[in-house]
Amino acid sequence: MKKYFIIDFDSTFTNVEALDLLGEISLSNSSDKAQRLEQIKQITDNGMDGGMSFRESLVKRLKLLEAKKQHLDQLVTRLKERISISFHRNEEFFRKHADHIYILSNGFKEFIVPIVTEYGVKPDHVYANTFEFDDQDNIIGFDQNNILSRNNGKAKQIERLRLDGEVSVIGDGYTDYEIKEAGLASKFYAFTENVSRDKVLEKADHVAPSLDEVLYLNKMNTAISYPKNRIKVLLLENIHPLAEKILKEEGYQLEVHSGSMDEQELIEKIKKVSIIGIRSKTQITEKVIDSAQRLLAVGAFCIGTNQIDLQACLRKGVAVFNAPFSNTRSVVELAIAEIIMLLRKIPERTKEMHQGKWHKSAQASYEIRGKKLGIIGYGNIGSQLSVLAENLGMEVYYYDLVEKLAMGNVKQCQTMDELLGLADVVTLHVDGRGSNRSFFGKEHFRKMKPGAAFINLSRGFIVDIESLRDALSSGHLVGAAVDVFPQEPKNNQEEFISELRGMPNTILTPHIGGSTQEAQENIGHFVPNQIIQYINTGSTSNSVNFPQVLLPMLKNAHRLMHIHHNVPGILARMNLVFAKHQINIVGQYLKTNETIGYVITDIDKEYDAQMIEELKRIDHTIRFRVLY
Ligand code: NAI
Repeated sequence: MKKYFIIDFDSTFTNVEALDLLGEISLSNSSDKAQRLEQIKQITDNGMDGGMSFRESLVKRLKLLEAKKQHLDQLVTRLKERISISFHRNEEFFRKHADHIYILSNGFKEFIVPIVTEYGVKPDHVYANTFEFDDQDNIIGFDQNNILSRNNGKAKQIERLRLDGEVSVIGDGYTDYEIKEAGLASKFYAFTENVSRDKVLEKADHVAPSLDEVLYLNKMNTAISYPKNRIKVLLLENIHPLAEKILKEEGYQLEVHSGSMDEQELIEKIKKVSIIGIRSKTQITEKVIDSAQRLLAVGAFCIGTNQIDLQACLRKGVAVFNAPFSNTRSVVELAIAEIIMLLRKIPERTKEMHQGKWHKSAQASYEIRGKKLGIIGYGNIGSQLSVLAENLGMEVYYYDLVEKLAMGNVKQCQTMDELLGLADVVTLHVDGRGSNRSFFGKEHFRKMKPGAAFINLSRGFIVDIESLRDALSSGHLVGAAVDVFPQEPKNNQEEFISELRGMPNTILTPHIGGSTQEAQENIGHFVPNQIIQYINTGSTSNSVNFPQVLLPMLKNAHRLMHIHHNVPGILARMNLVFAKHQINIVGQYLKTNETIGYVITDIDKEYDAQMIEELKRIDHTIRFRVLY
C-alpha cells in the first residue's frame, strides 16, 4: 500500500512559528516591539491548543504584525537557517518520496514554497494560505476563499486530495490532529522536536521526538541507523547539568536522579538503559551488568572506576569512559597553595590567631623560590604540578616507575631514595594500583631531609599514617598536608577519625583536591562527549576498558562494529563473509586487549541483510552494531 506523509510547516519543518519571526523583522523599529511579539505568541499558542478559531487568530496576528512584502524575503532567508535538525538530516527522504509528501499548513505559501522546494518537495504539493497586499505592498489580509483559512481547513483540504493509501500526519498542533479525527488519516505523529503541547500529545498515535522516529517506525530511515530518541540514558548522583544538556541536545531520552541506586534497583532499571552515568557511589556490579540488555556505555563522571566491574563490562561489550584529567588543574592548584602554607607555617599561625595569640616572627618561615620539590608519580597531576612549581621558582625533581617526558628543566631521579634525600617538599601523586598500598612508610619518612614537608593528595591507603604521625610529632618533618585517608567518612554527617588530628603544622582537608566547580564542569563536558563519539563513530579513545581506537568520521559508507571474545581467527571469518557477499571494504581497524577484540569495518553503501545475520552468527560474537 502507498504511504503518504502530510507534514506541517511551522514548528515542524522549521523550528519556529514563521509569523513570530516575521514580527521580529517587521517590528524591528517599533517602540512596542516586545509587547506586540508577546501578544502574537500568545495568540499563536492559543490557536495551536485549539482555544481560538484559526481565522480569528490570523486576523489578530496580521494586524499586530504590520508587515510588508519586502519583509518576506528576509523571512525566507532566516527560515532557511531554522530547518528542524532531523528534517535537515533526512533531506534524502524528501527527494526520494517527493510524490508522496505534502506540506499542509495554515501558514503562507509566500514563505513556505521557497523553503520546502529546496528539499525536493513539489511546489504543487504545498497547500497553505496566501497573503493579500494593498498597492503599497502592505500585508492587509489573506485569501478568505482558501479552505485552509477556515476551521478544520486541513482536514477539508486532505479530503479534496483523495489520496489512496495509508495517510500519516506529522505535526505539532491541534489542527494536524483534526485530519485524523475526521477519519482522513490513519496515523497522527505528534512532532515534539521543537515544541510539545499536552493537548496534542494526548491525541497522538505516536510521539515523534524527531523525524528519524517516524521514518524508523515506517522502516524508511536512511540518514541514521537508529533514532537517538530511542537511546535511553540514566543519570545518577547529581551529575553536572552541562552533561544533561549535551546528552539532551544529542537527542537522547534522559532520566535523571539526584541520588545513587542500590544493586537491586539498578538490576531492574538497567534493563532498558543504553547509557548510564554515575559518580563514585553507584556500584556497577557483575549482576547489574548481567541484567543489562541494551547497555552500550557506562560514563563514570569522576576519575576513579573502582566502583565498576570493568571485566564484566568488557565481557558484555560495554565500553566504560571516565574523566581522567578533568580535575588535574584543581589538584595542582591546591598542592601549590599547600607548599607555600607549609613553608610559612600558616597552619600554626592561623590556629594561634584564632586562640588570640599574636606570634609575629620570621623564624623557620621560608619562600618556596629556590627550594627543591620532589614529585613521586609523574602522571597527569605530577607533571602539571612540576610546570607550575618551576614557574614559581622551585627546583623540581621527580621519580616515576616508568620513563616519562620531563617538562621544562625538571630533573628525573633514578631512585626514590635519591629524591627523598634532596627534596625540601615531597609530594605524592602516584595512582591507586593495588601494589601501592602502604608503599610510603617509616623508612621513607626517615630518608626525608630533617625539616622537610610532606604532601599527599593521591590516595589514602598509600601512606602509613602511624609513621607519618611519628615523623610529625618528633619534629623530623616541618609539617604535612593530607587530603586523602585510609578511612574516610562515608558522608558529611560521619565524624572524621584520624591519628593526624591535632598534629603540628598539618593541613587536613576532606578529599577535596579535585573538587571545584571548574572540575565538575569539565567532567560534565568531557564524559558525554566521549560517549557520543563512541555511539556515533565507534571511537573508543579514552575508554577505560576497551581497546582504544580513534576512527575517522564515516563518509558514504556503512560502519560495522563487531565486538568479540579475543580468540584467534575471528577477523578471517568476518572477511570470508564479506568476500562471499562481494563486499568492498573501504577501511578496516582491529584492536584487541586480553579479553575482547574490536573490529570496525567500513563498507560501500549497499549490503544485504543476510550478510549482517551471518556476521552476527560468528562464534564468540559479543555485540554487533551497524552505523550509517
Ligand atoms: P596518573 O595515572 O596520570 O599518574 C600516576 C603516575 O604515578 C604514573 O605516571 C605512574 O607511572 C606513577 N606511579 C604509580 N605507582 C608508582 C610508584 N609506586 N612509584 C612511582 N611512580 C608511580 O594519575 P593522575 O591523574 O596524575 O592522579 C594521581 C593521583 O591523584 C591518583 O592516585 C588519583 O586517584 C589522585 N587524585 C586525587 C584527587 C583528590 O581529590 N585528592 C583528585 C584527582 C586525582
